[in-house]
Amino acid sequence: MGLTLTEKLLNGHLVEGEPKRGSRVGIRIDQTLTQDATGTMAYLEFEALGVPRVKTELSVSYVDHNMIQEDFKNPDDHRYLMDVARRCGIIFSPPGNGICHQLHVERFAAPGKTLLGSDSHTPTSGGVGMLAIGAGGMDVALAMAGEPFYLTYPAVVKVHLTGQLSPFVSAKDVILEVLRRIGVKGGVGKVLEYCGPGVGTLAVPDRATIANMGAETGATSSVFPSDEVAREWLRAQGREHQFVPLEADPDGVYDQVIEIDLSRVEPLVALPHQPDNVIPVREAAGMEIQQVMFGSCTNSSLRDLEAVAYLLRDMSVHPEVDCGVSPGSRQVLHHMAKSGALESILSAGVRILEVSCGACIGMGFAPPTDGVSLRTINRNFLGRCGHKTGKVCLVSPETAAASAVEGRITDPRDFASKHSKAPFVFLQPERFHIEDRRFVMPSDDPEKVVIRRGPNIAPLPEMGPMEEVISGTALLKVGDDITTDHIMPAGAKVLPLRSNVPAISKHVFEVVDPTFPERALAAKGGFIVGGANYGQGSSREHAALAPRYLGVKGVLAKSFARIHLANLVNFGILPLVFEDPSDYQRVDQGDQLEIRSQDVVPGRAFQVLNLTKGLTIRCVTPVGEGDLEIIRAGGKLNHVRSKG
Ligand code: F3S
Repeated sequence: MGLTLTEKLLNGHLVEGEPKRGSRVGIRIDQTLTQDATGTMAYLEFEALGVPRVKTELSVSYVDHNMIQEDFKNPDDHRYLMDVARRCGIIFSPPGNGICHQLHVERFAAPGKTLLGSDSHTPTSGGVGMLAIGAGGMDVALAMAGEPFYLTYPAVVKVHLTGQLSPFVSAKDVILEVLRRIGVKGGVGKVLEYCGPGVGTLAVPDRATIANMGAETGATSSVFPSDEVAREWLRAQGREHQFVPLEADPDGVYDQVIEIDLSRVEPLVALPHQPDNVIPVREAAGMEIQQVMFGSCTNSSLRDLEAVAYLLRDMSVHPEVDCGVSPGSRQVLHHMAKSGALESILSAGVRILEVSCGACIGMGFAPPTDGVSLRTINRNFLGRCGHKTGKVCLVSPETAAASAVEGRITDPRDFASKHSKAPFVFLQPERFHIEDRRFVMPSDDPEKVVIRRGPNIAPLPEMGPMEEVISGTALLKVGDDITTDHIMPAGAKVLPLRSNVPAISKHVFEVVDPTFPERALAAKGGFIVGGANYGQGSSREHAALAPRYLGVKGVLAKSFARIHLANLVNFGILPLVFEDPSDYQRVDQGDQLEIRSQDVVPGRAFQVLNLTKGLTIRCVTPVGEGDLEIIRAGGKLNHVRSKG
């Protein structure tokens, strides 16, 4: 029986477990990436492991999220990241070099390899036929130390593409179509594997956009074959030697099939506040907008921004629209300057923002109160772009550009016909401008590298083992689809505290209930009660680490998002799933709960006592014995240390 491409990639890296759906397996990791928001913690953890040099083929530390330097905290963090990188054998990408995923696809992603990144959009590199997975910083630290990465062997979804996209419809619309069909939970436990004749019509940046936002379906990863288009990309990036052809066997067996005729895809928009709240742009057309943002790891490639420049040429951004662009990398910016695209964008009245993530998380570019902000980013969760009243809509670069001019949501096809614009055709440069000298390479004399730590870099808090009787208050009860942005917000105020757990923990759940940190500390810890898909969104491990620091011992939910579940384990928080989801109604905020740790056994229901209501609730833990062992030890670091 033949294999899917996903199986080929997984099986080629298998070091532990049976290669069959649903089984727990360990895989070898070839490459890692971190970004600054998660990287400081990942490197503090890597240092705590006591391994002097990384054992991966390649590890890169990017600074792209928070480059605001209004006091010492961020610059100190950036310097710490550079020092650790030089000492430990990691390539350091300084502020201004590019957004991690865009830059990784340009310079490092290689077909047939595995990549583990402490960012949930790491699957972007699946656009060139690599198996790229997002994880918490602790898992990335362990991968750098040469440990396998453990995951549940995923189901594989065949996304069969036929036809060709129509003019002014682009890759973003394809992934919005996938989200429209399967929703934000539709990819959980699965890899989305793209194939079919339509694949050959998509350039690598298009594939990267689709793979990037597969994360919004909850998928473990997304992967494209490595074909002549990938070879051409690698050649233009001066890396043809890294090309290997890769595709699924014709008789590979899939768990699910999604058919998409690209010629029938139309411009789509995800309305607030979920990426799967998708409708055709024509149905939202006319809605007034106050802001437009081009960029993010989803849509900041040269292809995307050339399309924007093409539509904005000889046009003006609507006077009431605040419009900004963040190019994805120095390489993209260079080509835009050379081709005249930058001039077109500037002349149209667009603000040039930094080559960074900033605006994506509302730093330096947030919508006004109740303002509609059209963005080419991947997430529109409540509060994601700076504050709760912003209404963020996710669209393609083409839709964003057309709407920026008209001041209202506009179908780019209507815009093109109104302004007599011929279809946009992107020609990939023969050879991209390669400027690798901005990367800081590992030191040849690592012993001599002194790691400088600013005053904001606090040591990792010590965590105790799991108690015999786990008891405490239900500190907070929340609904379905609670995101890591709800649990641990990002943004200019919070991100500089990422290397200081006591300080950042004061912001836990601040968009939901600002009293949470104080109440949790006063109650000496307890539980969180959640609905379905608890912890969806980013890989930020602070969403587990900071609640743990405040004393959270367990989370009872209807279900969990994959990366957050792994982060809970890594920081010793017990995840519990209601055996009967309707039991969610039988626990209220403020109830006293109690669990005997000896009752907690994988695959078997046990009782959680609700002492306040005098009833019991049957729960199971969604983790296996190996993970339970980690939780009992009080988290991964304790567990690794105990094994010597
Ligand atoms: Fe950065 Fe936004 Fe992507 S924060 S990594 S551009 S999702």
